[in-house]
Amino acid sequence: MEKVLVLDFGGQYDELIARRVRDLRVYAELKYFDQVTVEEIRAEGYAGIIFTGGPNSVNDPASPSFDKAILSLGVPVLGICYGHQLLAKLSGAEVRPAEGGSEYGKTELTADPSGLFEGIPESSTVWMSHTDYVAGLPEGFRVLAKTASCPVAAMGNEEKALYGVQFHPEVTHTVYGRTLLRNFLFGICHCRGDWTMDDFIDRTVKEYAEKLQGKKVLLALSGGVDSSVAAALMHRAVGDRLTSVFVDHGLLRKNEGNEVEEVFRGRFGMNFVRINAEDRFLGKLAGVTEPEKKRKIIGEEFIRVFEDESRALGHQDFLVQGTIYPDVIESGKGGSATIKSHHNVGGLPSVMDFEGIIEPLRNLFKDEVRAVGLKLGLPEALVMRQPFPGPGLAVRIIGEITKEKADTLREADAIYREELEKAGVRPSQYFAVLTDTRSVGVIGDARTYGHTVALRAVATDDFMTADWVRIPYEVLETASRRITNEVKSINRVVYDITSKPPATVEWE
Ligand code: XMP
Repeated sequence: MEKVLVLDFGGQYDELIARRVRDLRVYAELKYFDQVTVEEIRAEGYAGIIFTGGPNSVNDPASPSFDKAILSLGVPVLGICYGHQLLAKLSGAEVRPAEGGSEYGKTELTADPSGLFEGIPESSTVWMSHTDYVAGLPEGFRVLAKTASCPVAAMGNEEKALYGVQFHPEVTHTVYGRTLLRNFLFGICHCRGDWTMDDFIDRTVKEYAEKLQGKKVLLALSGGVDSSVAAALMHRAVGDRLTSVFVDHGLLRKNEGNEVEEVFRGRFGMNFVRINAEDRFLGKLAGVTEPEKKRKIIGEEFIRVFEDESRALGHQDFLVQGTIYPDVIESGKGGSATIKSHHNVGGLPSVMDFEGIIEPLRNLFKDEVRAVGLKLGLPEALVMRQPFPGPGLAVRIIGEITKEKADTLREADAIYREELEKAGVRPSQYFAVLTDTRSVGVIGDARTYGHTVALRAVATDDFMTADWVRIPYEVLETASRRITNEVKSINRVVYDITSKPPATVEWE
């Protein structure tokens, strides 16, 4: 399969570059500059290489660089921002700090409308974000575009197919960014564009049908998008030899367990084992108030329950996990500070003796996973659903968790989600939190002393940062009225207007 390498120098849009390339139906792989060698790159037979941006100055000896030999592989290169400057430096040109300081934001670009800029008007808007600039042209290159303050905003050595752009074609503020990437991929790298989700499904199903002949395969189904899509895909590959185990820890949303069961047992007719382990989990969580401890207990108990069940199922050869590409990228980066430990069904025990782990989605971005899910016939409501943390409502019940509190939160959360969906408001994530505050209220002549529930809704692309969503007052009003009317023990509703940072999306 044809593929392009996105060589990562630490920029903030690097994943976005890979996604944009894949949107154009070319498979892109992201690798860190210090985790791959020129020889490995040569051996992979890439159709093209993109150098990403990065926060450093190429003139700082400690900043990321790469073996110059990469420019002699005969593989076309496109350098973006820092990548552009690195290409210039490796090719022998000078890069200098701009006299006027950083150039940041939308800028008018004047370009020669051919080659890399084919189909792009002579004058167009691009997104700039840089401090240094390419001060001289390397030998064999010519200027392809400039801005008022940047004399080499784009350069190219057509003979060697080496190109650099100072601006960011991957962000939507660069109006013709997609055209530029398309020109690079199809005009310069001569890609065919064979990356489609139909092909992915065919290839993956065929691969595992062959590899797993006669083998038994086990999957921990959480009901989230990734494990659901992995289940549907593997079911197509191995049919009845796949068993999906769904652990209901009693901290799921209203009706969630039944909905998941209906899809996988009902519609797909899969081997589906549902374990109702509410008592077991709530028992372990009794009296625990510390958020990380809650996560740890749930993560560990999940493994115990899963182990018990798989023992009962008899020997299973392979374990399927719903790892996706951003997880792979994230673990490749290593060591970003753990703000919360994300216990998911990911960390299953090595003590269980499987022949191997299967990660059929490990090369897909989230939107690709969703597209695959839809193609496999999973219901849209499941495939497009918002993320839900592995520990479930445990991290949305502040303080001690009891069944009464979980039931209360489930009701309030269901009403809130229903009202947002009815109003056509679909934030990236939206849910209710049961605070540990009780407050005084009044109904008729009677004084109440009830729970305070907080409503949360955030908009985000990557969940690393998030904005609180300006939900229309009328929608909040209806949700608040219904919650206080329909959920007996709640007498106060507040709306969380904090972004991330400084807050996190979840309350715990
Ligand atoms: P935070 O609260 O860290 O959340 O801003 C970012 C995203 O991660 C989800 N999240 C979790 N997911 N296990 C999970 O599987 C967890 O322990 C966990 N904690 C947070 C959160 O829902 C949001 O989408």
